[in-house]
Amino acid sequence: MTDSNAGLAARFPTDFRFGVATSAYQIEGALDADGRGPSIWETFAARPNAIERGETAAVACDHYRRWESDVELIASLGVDSYRFSIAWPRIQPTGRGPVNAAGLDFYDRLVDRLLQRGLRPFPTLYHWDLPQALEDVGGWASRDTADRFAEYAALVTSRLSDRVSEWSLFNEPYIFTSRGYLLGRYAPGRRNLRSFLRSVHTVVRAHALGYRAVKAVNPDVAVGSVFAMAPVEPATQSPVDIEAARYGEALFNRIFVDPLMRGAYPQVFLDNIPARALDIQPGDMEAVHTPLDFIGINCYYRLIISAGEHLPDNLPLLFFGLRADTRSTGGHADFTVTQDSVSPVLSAFGRSEGERTEMGWEIWPRALHDVLTGLSIQYPGLPLHVCESGCAFSDAPGEDGVVHDESRIAYHRAHLAAVADALSAGANVRSYHAWSLYDNFEWASGYRPRFGIVHVDYKTQQRTLKRSAEWYREFIRSAHTTRAERRTTETRPSDAIASDAIASDAIAPDANATDALPAVTVGSADVIRPATPA
Ligand code: FCB
Repeated sequence: MTDSNAGLAARFPTDFRFGVATSAYQIEGALDADGRGPSIWETFAARPNAIERGETAAVACDHYRRWESDVELIASLGVDSYRFSIAWPRIQPTGRGPVNAAGLDFYDRLVDRLLQRGLRPFPTLYHWDLPQALEDVGGWASRDTADRFAEYAALVTSRLSDRVSEWSLFNEPYIFTSRGYLLGRYAPGRRNLRSFLRSVHTVVRAHALGYRAVKAVNPDVAVGSVFAMAPVEPATQSPVDIEAARYGEALFNRIFVDPLMRGAYPQVFLDNIPARALDIQPGDMEAVHTPLDFIGINCYYRLIISAGEHLPDNLPLLFFGLRADTRSTGGHADFTVTQDSVSPVLSAFGRSEGERTEMGWEIWPRALHDVLTGLSIQYPGLPLHVCESGCAFSDAPGEDGVVHDESRIAYHRAHLAAVADALSAGANVRSYHAWSLYDNFEWASGYRPRFGIVHVDYKTQQRTLKRSAEWYREFIRSAHTTRAERRTTETRPSDAIASDAIASDAIAPDANATDALPAVTVGSADVIRPATPA
């Protein structure tokens, strides 16, 4: 541990939690075990070319069978928190009906063991593995799926909320609805604008119904959800790029958060979408207004958006210019996605300023700082959790058997520093989770991208700590060492600094940038800053 790492560790409050994250589908394997039902990902993976190299999650990290030694490994890292997800198809194999006891027992044992080892269990109820039986009757595009989700949430929390006090409802709703229902790149692989818009509204409703269902089971637990977020910059100062960025920012960051927290979809979104495309029923907007107890953030990049002409196929995420569709269909909702009817809006993952990871994502730690401080302005005091932060590099053990992933160490150090800066600016950040504990099944990319701080040899299931895992362990140890001394005297920065201070200090564009490139204000509070000219 260098002095600078120790200095960084000391910048975190004594009750801050450092953790690691996984999700059920990406690590468990054992897809037929103990009465688990099929999910949309098995169906999707069976399609030709859906997953790179035809890989599947049938074995993954074999965590379902190796969970006991896996918990020991997690505990050996010295982390405080373990974010994992619960597989709905293990709990209700067809997405409805009584609990499959063996499936729920698995998570019950996992929770008990985590607690025994002094780890916070931090589960997410839905990380993309919808029971196939529900997709067969419409999936997230069907209103009923929101009710099914609430029922599932109640079943799980009835059993576990005596021991688990913080629950995330969903993981990255924008990503799984857009990529699953519009772009066809993730399960269930649909490419239909109407399905996408309906799935958005169903998932918003599922948040509200799920939130209430969990609170009805146990009003004392905290219920939040986890969102992919990114600061958004227009590529140039041209009005069309600024407009595209405003639109992209609302789509990516706010179409789920705003209805829950404020009771309304972002206006720029509604301006472009006839309400009936979302299938909003009378009373829905009042019902969905259920402010979350915390917000989870997964921030992997910044977004630079321009109003483009064409959609390059190789971008992992695309914003579709729905305005063009409404025009071409006379403002009605019956869209399908074709090369002609979509996308005057084009996004890019940053410029070439930062280095890129193997995913092609620009390394831009300030993005995480800006998202955290931006949310703190919009929702002063709201607890924020960094639920995923990490990077893929093509690392393999060297001749010495060690994975020397210095780039990943640099990545986590820089992102932890960004969190520390956000804390200093008054953001109420409560935890940071490295994505991921293990190299794992990276969805449509299969096993190629390795995000783990622990290397997994998929032939032998051998787990080997990478240098980054050792670094993280030392970093956390250093943070813990200073805790006892500081506990008696410390106040959290968020107690001490008013949210006004955040606005004026932390994310106000610097004077030069402001002079040259006026900021674009979106809604009442968020600011998307123009990109600094190269
Ligand atoms: C996020 C997902 C997570 C993982 C990382 C790399 O979008 O939540 O499951 O795939 O990206």
